[in-house]
Amino acid sequence: MSIMRVKPISAFEADMKKSDLKRVLGKWSLTAIGVGAIIGGGIFVLTGTGAYYHAGPALALSFIIAGIACVFAALCYSEFASILPVEGSAYAYAYGTIGEIFAWIIGWGLILEYAMGSMTVAVSWSGYFNKLLKMFHIHLPEYLTTDPASYTGEGFSMNLPAFCIVLLVISLLIKGTKSAAKANNMIVILKVSAVIFVIIAGLFFINTANWHPFIPEATQIVEKETTHNAYGIAGIVSGAAAIFFAYVGFDAVSTQAGEAINPKKDVPFAIIASLLICTVLYILVSLVLTGMMNYKDFNPLGKYPEAIKAPVAYAFDIAGQNWAGFIITIAATIGLVSVLMVMIMGQSRIFLGMSKDGLIPAVFSKVNPISGTPKTNLMILGFIIAVVAAFTPINKLADMTSFGTLFAFTMVCIAVWILRVKQPQLTRTFKVPALPIIAVCGISINTYLMINLSKDAQLLSLGWLLIGVIVYFGYSKKRSRLNKTETEE
Ligand code: ALA
Repeated sequence: MSIMRVKPISAFEADMKKSDLKRVLGKWSLTAIGVGAIIGGGIFVLTGTGAYYHAGPALALSFIIAGIACVFAALCYSEFASILPVEGSAYAYAYGTIGEIFAWIIGWGLILEYAMGSMTVAVSWSGYFNKLLKMFHIHLPEYLTTDPASYTGEGFSMNLPAFCIVLLVISLLIKGTKSAAKANNMIVILKVSAVIFVIIAGLFFINTANWHPFIPEATQIVEKETTHNAYGIAGIVSGAAAIFFAYVGFDAVSTQAGEAINPKKDVPFAIIASLLICTVLYILVSLVLTGMMNYKDFNPLGKYPEAIKAPVAYAFDIAGQNWAGFIITIAATIGLVSVLMVMIMGQSRIFLGMSKDGLIPAVFSKVNPISGTPKTNLMILGFIIAVVAAFTPINKLADMTSFGTLFAFTMVCIAVWILRVKQPQLTRTFKVPALPIIAVCGISINTYLMINLSKDAQLLSLGWLLIGVIVYFGYSKKRSRLNKTETEE
């Protein structure tokens, strides 16, 4: 059946030889790309929700569970990157194994992770930027910082900072991957230092009584018609789903394989290294935070109603250390730029892969000979991301980004197993240990987390995938390069 056709590994190799992208990324730049995408607003924002509605002081265990789910997926991504160092990431891996229709749906789902992720990150960047301006007593009018649907006044409104930051990032990405990677390296050093700083400074304000009981007894928190199954083991697991967004991004390393100097070795290294670095930092931040402030104090209806919105900064404020909030705001404002950069770069490379295969228009695979970047692709993408971020309340749908990511992770775990069975003879410079156990664990835990996301996010994401199926049958199936090959035969 033609929708199940598989792209042969030899065709991937031929594409790689023809690629116009410049191979400029070394091992540490790739690792910085991973860390650059992972550490963003998530760790500074979601920790309050995770502690109050889900895990209590055991939030660190939620981070460990989400980290383990990512490690299973990271191992599977790494094996694929060692066989198919191409730019399409999970989409390409599925195309080489399970078949075109699955690859298409994964590619379509990755739009939730990368393009939609970029839109929500642009909006949260705007929030931090405003906060930073306010610290210097500069107040932008509401109509310039709010999308029309959320605007409370009358007349025109847009989120101007979100719009501008996307355009700025796009101009950097168009210039060249090497210069973008250099900027990313600097930002990553800065934001990792800020996180380490938060951990060390926070140590001085820990009250160990806040950690007792470490796993509070399971209970239900009912709030505005929503019931949260909080605490206990179930709370720890649902907490892992709630904070999963903080881990989104390490797989972006695999989208850069086409620009890596030594992709077969360095991409697996960078995927695993960036994930491990961030997991350790996240566990420490969550321990420090729940030690500084009692998890019950993140209650939005309690004595600190604002604490849940910016938990880390708030914990320092309460400890009388307002300066820490200043540092966190600067770190997040600068740090989110690199999340945005890597996410947009990732989306453009996935589109590049899909376009080369004929599934989306050819304009997405044109590479500019001077900069070695897909310029038109980036410009179209940047325009769409900037407009949606500026004019729609897209940030309300952030959970869909986690859905798209978990969906791709699950599929990659399935695909790596299939390829091992179908083509055991392929040279693999990195091999998932204990397969199929790791793949089965990855499939189970990532699916479980997907089921634990909010119902709205699940329904909207499934709706998005359904639209994808319609586009496939209406447009992509007959334009697929494999379709042409089949017809010629
Ligand atoms: N992991 C990224 C963040 O937390 C997307 O902002």
